[in-house]
Amino acid sequence: MQLQDITDPNCDPDNPRVVTCDEVVSAYSIIKDNIIRTPCTISRLGCQLNTELYFKKEFMQYTGNFKERGANHAIIRMKERNPGVAGAVSASAGNHASAMAYHGKCLGVPVVVVMPETAPMMKRKLCEDLGAKVILYGTTLSDCKKYGLNYAMRNGMEYINGYDHVDILAGAGTISMEILEDVPDVDVIICPIGGGGLLAGICAYAKGNCDRQPIVIGVETDKCPGFTQAMNAGKPSPAETLPTLAEGLAVPVVGYNSYATAAPLVDQVVVVEEKWVMLAILYLIEYEKAVVEGAGAVGLAAILSGKLDDVVQNKKVVVVLSGGNIDVTVLSRVIERALAADGRLIEMAVTIQDKPTQLPELLKEIAAIGANVVHLEENRAFILSQVWNVEVRLRCEVLGKDMINTLQEKMNAKYGSNFRILENAAIV
Ligand SMILES: Cc1ncc(COP(=O)(O)O)c(C=O)c1O
Repeated sequence: MQLQDITDPNCDPDNPRVVTCDEVVSAYSIIKDNIIRTPCTISRLGCQLNTELYFKKEFMQYTGNFKERGANHAIIRMKERNPGVAGAVSASAGNHASAMAYHGKCLGVPVVVVMPETAPMMKRKLCEDLGAKVILYGTTLSDCKKYGLNYAMRNGMEYINGYDHVDILAGAGTISMEILEDVPDVDVIICPIGGGGLLAGICAYAKGNCDRQPIVIGVETDKCPGFTQAMNAGKPSPAETLPTLAEGLAVPVVGYNSYATAAPLVDQVVVVEEKWVMLAILYLIEYEKAVVEGAGAVGLAAILSGKLDDVVQNKKVVVVLSGGNIDVTVLSRVIERALAADGRLIEMAVTIQDKPTQLPELLKEIAAIGANVVHLEENRAFILSQVWNVEVRLRCEVLGKDMINTLQEKMNAKYGSNFRILENAAIV
């Protein structure tokens, strides 16, 4: 198909639309029976962070993310406006795609999802299983968007942008209605920013709702700070993008309607580093028994990083956990890395004499401190010390910074320069 450059009529850079509180209220009346009313519950993690902390658990939606709210709303409104429409088209390899596929199926509306040719098989299969037609095109999401706009025009369908269509924004905003119902005296709401649709919806309701106006904070990853870039430039403009664990937030240019709605209302935008996102994912498993993807965990990551101490301490804070779709192999790597970063997993090398009594003595020393050896390797070939020595590399589970300090003291006293801790990435 010969592709033309088509501007999305619903996301016009020269005429951005500001979403209102009333539009969010109206969206809720349309979608409330079609989505799951997710819990917003207090967390014991708050005691450690000196905050009354609540989590809005959007990862509990049927497809594991909040995008369903916007998808359901946008498809229903599209049918109302244009009953003869042949279906909806979206460009996404992530949560918006599965949300559109699922709600298209529920509402009996054909959905076409355009994904990059490099999209993982699993993501493609998920959308197909949920009833969508999947088209693979190009290598980037802008390629997919161009194809999707052309496909929609030629097939009597409507293109629905996942972070900038006003019906998507209004749908996402319904999260803040539920938050304010469940925690009416909330002081601070914290949410992730990708293309800015979620932040825009939340701001529209939370700031437009007359009684109480909680502080709204948006969080993005340092690997793609699109909203910060837009605020610096005064309009959506491309941010440098690097691979990130929070892949749902990797949108280099935030939405025009999203920016116009959120920029004047948001109180603060925070950029977090990846290590805090990993730690947040680990803590959510440990404290909440919740599996949350990187994009969904950045709100907690921002609190853990200490960047919001002034705003959240001794306050009632709701963090939106927006999605839970993390690959299990990635999850297992994240857990190991986060344990290391949290000072609960360390690696050390000790050079000892290669004699029968030496290794048991070393292990006894470690056990006396309370550390647990989970992996041990002996290295005889690749060391520079005398030939009758062996370097023992040990990975140990420890209880945190205090135990690491004790270990360091005792080992230094016994083994001196023959002992070292390897790549201690602890951030505790
Ligand atoms: C889990 C999750 N959280 C947050 C976001 C960001 O939402 P938005 O693009 O509306 O800013 C996304 C976007 O795909 C997401 O998948």
